[in-house]
Amino acid sequence: MSGVKIVGTGSALPGRVVTNDDMAKIVETSDEWISSRTGIRSRRYCDAQAGESHRTLVRDAATRALEAAGIEPAQVGVCLVATFTADTCTPSAACLLQADLGMPEDTLCLDLNAACAGFVYGLHVAECLLPGAKRPYALVVGADTLSRVMDFSDRTTCVLFGDGAGAAVLECREGYPCLHAVWGSRGDDASLYAPGVGCEEPSYLHMDGRAVFRFATDVMPLATTQVLEAAGMRADEVDRFVFHQANKRIVDFAVRKLGLDPAKCEGNIDHTGNTSAGSVPILLDELVRAGELGSGDRVLLAGFGAGLTWAGALAELA
Ligand code: ACO
Repeated sequence: MSGVKIVGTGSALPGRVVTNDDMAKIVETSDEWISSRTGIRSRRYCDAQAGESHRTLVRDAATRALEAAGIEPAQVGVCLVATFTADTCTPSAACLLQADLGMPEDTLCLDLNAACAGFVYGLHVAECLLPGAKRPYALVVGADTLSRVMDFSDRTTCVLFGDGAGAAVLECREGYPCLHAVWGSRGDDASLYAPGVGCEEPSYLHMDGRAVFRFATDVMPLATTQVLEAAGMRADEVDRFVFHQANKRIVDFAVRKLGLDPAKCEGNIDHTGNTSAGSVPILLDELVRAGELGSGDRVLLAGFGAGLTWAGALAELA
């Protein structure tokens, strides 16, 4: 049986830092309210004048992941970008990335929309596609530019989100482990949505924060437990938990409920905000680059988001 390992990671955050005090100049809020309710102290926004865009974040994160893996773009067989805020509806962000990096024509390129759970979905989709792909490496990117879909008159949402991209290179090989992925969606729940092309209202993100909070504190422990059951592992056998960074209180709740070691679950929301599909791979890459994760480590990743969606997976670092 073939399986997959993560052989490289990368990430890219835009240069413009927006602090909670900056947000307090836009809406009626405060550093105290935002940091105590969410753990967020600052977030990053793309600066178009500095040449930053969704496309450049995707390109930079992917380039760093390929460099870390020691893989050339020509060796990639599957190229997935998880996002719901790409620069263009079509061509897909994955096709733009193919063009930017010069990946071969027979690279399987597509975008995937599962909002904040998108990167974890992407890992699973790549695992499924790789055995039939032309080459054994998949580039999986999670990227969102939420600053573009924020209603900056709505303090209940605009303070929560930021822009960013993260990427991982998967290698498919005989004898490698499977991801033990789990997933779910509740398409009938409209507590989090953004209108798209053809809708009369602007494409701002709308969120019933309390309803999403309840959903998140339900599915984060659920996804984690399901992955552990599928893998036949105990929580203390996992080296690190990489949870979607939507709100530190949601992660803290899951950690308490599952009895996890908090030191294995620390996040980075303080300087990123919620970067949606970028959140999980950015944290993963920051941990790898800080030397907190290395070869042979097993990481449980879990995300949830609009859709509503959630997903979990267990990945081993090569
Ligand atoms: N600054 C100051 N006050 C605020 C702000 C703000 N930015 N936002 C809301 N308030 C006020 C409200 O108006 C309310 O005032 P009231 O009591 O006078 O009516 C009060 O603060 C409390 O509001 P709540 O909504 O009850 O605050 P809560 O403690 O629930 O925190 C939050 C809100 C942070 C949004 C929380 O519900 C949450 O984190 N929800 C989950 C969000 C999430 O995970 N989103 C993921 C999205 S993933 C994706 O796919 C995009």
